[in-house]
Amino acid sequence: MRVEDFEVPQEADPFYPEMLDEVGGLAKPNNLALVAAAASRLEPGESYVEIGSFKGASLIAASRAWDGDVVAIDDFSMGEGSRERLEQNLARFGGHAEILEGDAFELLRGGALEGRRVGVYYYDAAHDYESQLEGLRLIEPYLAERALLIVDDSDWERVDRAIADYLAEQPRARELARLGGKDRGHPEWWEGVSIIAWSGGT
Ligand SMILES: C[S@@+](CC[C@H](N)C(=O)[O-])C[C@H]1O[C@@H](n2cnc3c(N)ncnc32)[C@H](O)[C@@H]1O
Repeated sequence: MRVEDFEVPQEADPFYPEMLDEVGGLAKPNNLALVAAAASRLEPGESYVEIGSFKGASLIAASRAWDGDVVAIDDFSMGEGSRERLEQNLARFGGHAEILEGDAFELLRGGALEGRRVGVYYYDAAHDYESQLEGLRLIEPYLAERALLIVDDSDWERVDRAIADYLAEQPRARELARLGGKDRGHPEWWEGVSIIAWSGGT
């Protein structure tokens, strides 16, 4: 993943609000443009992995920007979300992904991503403190030499605290940018986003 000169996109393509209107989802067009910009910088052989795909808005955005490997993990525990709906939305908007259905933590601990090199990781699932911290820790064995970790809802106190504790314990991770969301006067960034750069450091 080309992390060095990654820049947060300034303007969202009109495709994103249109698609979001149709698909529905817990995001803003800017968030979709952000994951797409990150996915577009993946390098051959790398994967985009997303935990929490719901109806597919962020997954469609990212997978349209990256022809290579894309993995969506969801247990479809949230109302209105289902595998069938996700597959239909992906097909309708020209996205693609391998969908791994189940609890993200069990799947990651069980080696579900074995053999993959994850260049972009988007975490948008359970946001309690423990899950958030585990969601960052458990992806580490699969990360590419350089990777971007994007965490949604970073305005929330428990998410913010988990990110801070993760950064404090993991010297290979450094926060590249923090985009405040609606509670910080920027509703265009939903509930806030944290962008973390990972450097395997060999
Ligand atoms: C906020 S939604 C994701 C929104 C999506 N990224 C979008 O663009 O609209 C969170 C999703 O995480 C899933 N989820 C929550 N806890 C999970 C877990 N432990 N394992 C797998 N998926 C989980 C829910 O089923 C839900 O679909």
